[in-house]
Amino acid sequence: MHPPVIAVDGTAASGKGTLARRLAQHFGFAHLDSGVLYRLTALGVLDAGGDPTSEIDALAAARAIDHTRAQELRLRSDAVGAAASKVAAIASVRDTLLNYQRQFIAHPPGGAAGAVVDGRDIGTVICPEADAKLFVDADPKVRAHRRWLELAGLGIQRSEDDVREELVSRDAADRARAVAPLRQADDAALLDTTDLGIDAAFATALVLVEPRLAAKLEAKPRG
Ligand code: CDP
Repeated sequence: MHPPVIAVDGTAASGKGTLARRLAQHFGFAHLDSGVLYRLTALGVLDAGGDPTSEIDALAAARAIDHTRAQELRLRSDAVGAAASKVAAIASVRDTLLNYQRQFIAHPPGGAAGAVVDGRDIGTVICPEADAKLFVDADPKVRAHRRWLELAGLGIQRSEDDVREELVSRDAADRARAVAPLRQADDAALLDTTDLGIDAAFATALVLVEPRLAAKLEAKPRG
């Protein structure tokens, strides 16, 4: 039995990363943003002058991920996001990144008591046995506005329309791919954050997650 796990899947810029971070802080769990793994893979391909749709290029990059680049601003660019969605559609790339995610869940870093992992396939493929699962979504216009604000805060200037187009087309590709498509797990609770600020979204998430985690946390050996 692995430590408690909360799976937070959802559409692009739905607020799942912020929620996952807040949940991790609340429960004292480690947080993994699995999207960063795909973005780092994409960055590796682009920096090597490769093609993100080529299995050879993408697999080489997935095997050589440089985690020290996780904070790079370029990781957040549209170009890297779009390339991430392309490498993410390749089964062997997903297999390579799966081990890292399962290790994180089995042994949360820093001796944390559990893990919160956000992404697209955490509750469906990476950890179907997760103790609590959320599927986060919001109206595309609202998501585009939030992402636009986030990018502006990082000094990246984009039109809101462009941002929305990018999110919508990436979601469509993520939903349509053959391997580990973006979808709500049958046992995931849907959290629509369209009309919720971050505090309200977090409060709602806690109400959904706490009862599902309770049994596991109570069963935790003491001492
Ligand atoms: O932050 P945002 O929601 O825009 O994207 P992200 O979570 O950083 O993910 C970037 C891309 O990586 C997604 O569009 C997916 O194609 C891919 N991804 C995935 O396939 N599986 C995951 N568990 C996480 C991300």
